Amino acid sequence: MSAPSSAESPSLAQSLHFWARNASNESALLQASLRLGLFDALPVEGSGEPVTVARLAETAGASARGVRSLLELLVCLGFARMDDARHFSLAPATAALLKDPAFRARLEAELPWWAPLGLLDEAVKRGEPVEHGGRPWDVLGHYRALLLDAPQASSPGAEDFFDRFARSAARTQLLISAGRLGVLELLAASPRTLPELGAATYLTTTGLRVLVEGLAKLGLAREEGGAWGLSAEARQLLEGKALAYLVRSLSVSAQYWEALGRLDETVRHERFVLDLKDPEVSRRFYADNSNQITAVFASHFQLSRRAAATLAQARPLEGASVLDIGTGSGVWGAAFARATPTTHVTYFDQAVVLEQVRRNTESLKVADRARFWPGDLFTQDFGAGAFDVIILPQVLNVLRPEDLPGIFARVARALRPDGVLLIAEYVLNERRDGPLDHLYFGLRRFMTNEGDLLSASEYGSLLSDVGLTQSVCIPLPTQEMLLAARPGVALPTQLAPADSVPRQESPRRA
Ligand SMILES: C[S@@+](CC[C@H](N)C(=O)[O-])C[C@H]1O[C@@H](n2cnc3c(N)ncnc32)[C@H](O)[C@@H]1O
Repeated sequence: MSAPSSAESPSLAQSLHFWARNASNESALLQASLRLGLFDALPVEGSGEPVTVARLAETAGASARGVRSLLELLVCLGFARMDDARHFSLAPATAALLKDPAFRARLEAELPWWAPLGLLDEAVKRGEPVEHGGRPWDVLGHYRALLLDAPQASSPGAEDFFDRFARSAARTQLLISAGRLGVLELLAASPRTLPELGAATYLTTTGLRVLVEGLAKLGLAREEGGAWGLSAEARQLLEGKALAYLVRSLSVSAQYWEALGRLDETVRHERFVLDLKDPEVSRRFYADNSNQITAVFASHFQLSRRAAATLAQARPLEGASVLDIGTGSGVWGAAFARATPTTHVTYFDQAVVLEQVRRNTESLKVADRARFWPGDLFTQDFGAGAFDVIILPQVLNVLRPEDLPGIFARVARALRPDGVLLIAEYVLNERRDGPLDHLYFGLRRFMTNEGDLLSASEYGSLLSDVGLTQSVCIPLPTQEMLLAARPGVALPTQLAPADSVPRQESPRRA
């Protein structure tokens, strides 16, 4: 999905998806690019020689990988250009906007607000300015100015840029606070006046007013006869488990807030504010993540079962021995366990994560053919010739690029001669300038000291180096599946039809 703009009029469902997952990434991308001087360092298209990432990184005194993560997104969003030799320039329309000193000053005035905007919960509780860095910040007033008061119209292009630069993140944080403070849930339960909402939450009326009016501006809330509730469209969208799912995905975005606000530091010095290579940080982050992915088990299970059915078209899975590395909720391994009554699956992850996997396999009645293997995927020796299928589901993006050859070598060694490696990942297009959602995901992986996203041919070349010379990339509904094997092993070329697997099934929630 591309970032919504007023011209496209996205549906509320699309906007909600964007605000919950990518809107804060969008503001952070533009703010970091401004702080790092990238807009000034890029030659304007048509009036200067386009530059390489390495050259730009040198000019900005920053990490090449960090600069590339920003540039590929700027190209995808249309703010920058890339030619076939991967040389970059600034789009003339972007250059024209940023040449205006008054507009530039308006952007720069927003930069110090990132951290205070993250204190919205506290501002709503207190109803008055909050302290940050030794001085008070009128956080509620700033939200009002950004989201509720009429925008200072300059030009549609400038307004759109400012919207992405400042308001996108403010919308994400408003939703985070409304979810975390229980306001979304109360609005969904029944309409309430502000004093009633205040009595139910112990929050100030001043603060609540900014929250509910902000939600109304987003099309999520509305007032009728003095009582606030969800809008009809939001009520429909957030029915059943959807509200809890939204609140959980907002809590994942909340974990990135500080790191996004300091993205320029990470790009400059590779100093990771949220460092998922720190074992303690990783343990906490992924324990939460495992709960999150267990919550969306049903839809992922559809996908992984379809992937298993696809592989079974070319390679029978009866009696197969399967290894699922970085299993998370176990959703991929369990799909293979369900493919036949005789498939055995080994689930590999950090010990803290395997507890939930054990419960999920019991609930899905595949625990009798399960083995749980705790370990560190960076160093674990997976043995020699022991597995028919090895799955790396959404896990390579955890590894830094320099670690990929090592894990591919260990995995290739652990595969039987006719074994198949299945990688489920967000695979970039061959130009590496899309899809947009994938690039945002890749930015989060870079800023957390994790992996890089690759194109299908970049994967193909690394896999050939370890003897897996055949590979095929098959698009799944929300990600891609790459299958690789030694020469002569049959691989499917087409996704199995959706009706080849039963509908919606998930483990009981603990
Ligand atoms: C993004 S999750 C993917 C989960 C699952 N495969 C899925 O597709 O839903 C990445 C998984 O890798 C695991 N992981 C991260 N670092 C690890 C390490 N050093 N050793 C073992 N597992 C690790 C995490 O615990 C997490 O479950």
